[in-house]
Amino acid sequence: MSRFPDGFLWGTATAAHQVEGGNTSSDLWLMEMMKDSLFAEPSGDACDHYHLYDRDIAMLKALGFGVYRFSIEWARIEPEEGFFSAAALDHYRRMIASCLAHGIVPMVTFHHFTAPLWFTRDGGWEDASSVDRFARYCEKAARALGDVVDYACTINEANIPIMVTMMREAVGIRGSGRRERALEEAARLCGGAVAKFAPYLSGNGHAAAPNLIAAHRKSYDVLKAHIDGPVGMTVALNEFQAVEGGEALRDMADQAINGQFLESLKGDDFVGVQTYTRVRFAKDTVLPPPDGAERTQMGYEFYPEALEATIRQAARVSHCPVIVTENGIGTEDDTRRIEYTRRALEGCLRALEDGVDLRGYIHWSMLDNYEWLEGYRPKFGLVEVDRATQARRPKPSAYWLGEVAKGNGLD
Ligand code: BGC
Repeated sequence: MSRFPDGFLWGTATAAHQVEGGNTSSDLWLMEMMKDSLFAEPSGDACDHYHLYDRDIAMLKALGFGVYRFSIEWARIEPEEGFFSAAALDHYRRMIASCLAHGIVPMVTFHHFTAPLWFTRDGGWEDASSVDRFARYCEKAARALGDVVDYACTINEANIPIMVTMMREAVGIRGSGRRERALEEAARLCGGAVAKFAPYLSGNGHAAAPNLIAAHRKSYDVLKAHIDGPVGMTVALNEFQAVEGGEALRDMADQAINGQFLESLKGDDFVGVQTYTRVRFAKDTVLPPPDGAERTQMGYEFYPEALEATIRQAARVSHCPVIVTENGIGTEDDTRRIEYTRRALEGCLRALEDGVDLRGYIHWSMLDNYEWLEGYRPKFGLVEVDRATQARRPKPSAYWLGEVAKGNGLD
């Protein structure tokens, strides 16, 4: 089988903070700008997608894609607690209108890692108030945008805080204290209490996990009241494998990082699967990639077959239809991007053949963009960005995947 089912969704994804630029009310803006930052460089103007979105969406359409997954930025919409910016909401309404005008289905994510600084200063997701705070923001945003949103994702990778925390624990890194010092410095700069400052990716994932699950459940209901289309959550799913003796650790990690989140999604309209590689467990430890294995710019093993396994896992555990909402590779060598994506799509076809309800494939990312702690070095984009001129240049992989999308099949 080389054809995908009729109506299969083909798209690319971005996240507001990684492409828009100037996200000055967010927690990470402060953390990127401060002395001894953990970030390789600040996000700055990013790809200026805040202004250039219409051009970018037109480009997606011309390449052959049908869906654009992007996030709206909570820090712009509610820059101070309780103040909701009508101007920011209007901006996102124009962006969705641009998708619709170009014949692109908008898939809107309501939270993609960044949050308003006030939220993170006051305990972020580690504080139980996060559930209501997030639901209140979703209510305001969905009231303003819900009639034009097609697909909605509540939280991007709600399981990644606990994954990052547990990986830190599993590999037994005795931190140099840099992370702790950075959190202290950020708390001091924004006038918060050191014990409370809790950004998504560098806080305590054990404390955040139950609140994130509860926030998804509550915001799912809030969004459903305003949005006719499908609503779901996305999960970071690496394929977890065990070498001999590693089964117990693998199973424990799998339940804490993947299982409990997937189980909480039963009854949702879809589950978003986001996969980049595999992780191998040995007795009491996480293994590095095998000797000689090809590595991506992130240091991950080049292992596109992981996607098939995680699609099957997500379908089996959540009982929801699956959409691949992110899959891709950080590489300077675009031929490896094509190879990676082709092999990942072959895995999608095998899953479909076995009857898995897989509805779409959305590639990360449309543009070379701000890769969080790593700055602009890793290149995940189908489209190259000259950040001095903001010129875009689609890579061969963009034309290749666009043709796959247009033909709805792999040759
Ligand atoms: C995130 C993206 C990120 C990508 C590549 C995903 O976990 O959702 O924001 O850029 O991985 O590392």
